[in-house]
Amino acid sequence: MSKNTPLVAGNWKMNGLRENASELVKLSESLKSAPVDGVDVMICPPATLVLAFSELMKESIVQIGAEDCHTLVSGANTGDLSAEMFADCGATAIIVGHSERRADHGESDALVREKAQATWRAGLVAIICVGETAGQRQYGLTLDVVRRQLKNAIPDAAIAKNTIIAYEPVWAIGTGLTPTVEDVTKVHDEIRKELVERFGAENGGGMKLLYGGSVKASNAKELMSVENVDGALVGGASLKADDFMGIINSYKS
Ligand code: PGA
Repeated sequence: MSKNTPLVAGNWKMNGLRENASELVKLSESLKSAPVDGVDVMICPPATLVLAFSELMKESIVQIGAEDCHTLVSGANTGDLSAEMFADCGATAIIVGHSERRADHGESDALVREKAQATWRAGLVAIICVGETAGQRQYGLTLDVVRRQLKNAIPDAAIAKNTIIAYEPVWAIGTGLTPTVEDVTKVHDEIRKELVERFGAENGGGMKLLYGGSVKASNAKELMSVENVDGALVGGASLKADDFMGIINSYKS
């Protein structure tokens, strides 16, 4: 088994108003009353909630992250938000290169790489997403696609402390479909091998490697027990504290 401390991270996407802070508080209270040792927990809410959530979680083990950022520190970029702004709001990490950003906003690996560098510049951890589409999978291109994304989207200066990789097959996101344990094992083993080859045993081996795509309480234990799966990036099932706790609890021995 990988010795990396697992991370269960929630990606709220474009969901959540201030009133939904109640779910975050419930999550934090649950973790306080029934701690799950040796697991990091993070919620990445929409940008509008990052500041309020960070302040609410000041005394909690729940970390707050952001879902995307611009590459620049500041400038004439109407509607965009910089990594420094998220750091200023108390975020500890930023998701970059999520497949929804790649598909809906035409983000390339080169742009994702720049966003990862921007995240580091602000002193935050970059959660870099990779994953194949249904069509690519059908043509047997999964490993080729993932290798290319790793090569081009991860900056050369990546170290274990500032980079987390999330493998999210696009066809598994929000669909209720998940790859088999054999498939997850194969892809995660390959990603680990690539990371170790490129960044060395300490950094390549120490980067957390998350699985994402339709993770829920009922399949978490199986998916999280795969060697080289160091946690999950969770969309839909992170919106309700009880559902998310179910996933975190899969790490209870
Ligand atoms: P899902 O989303 O858990 O709703 O499938 C995962 C993600 O997009 O990170």
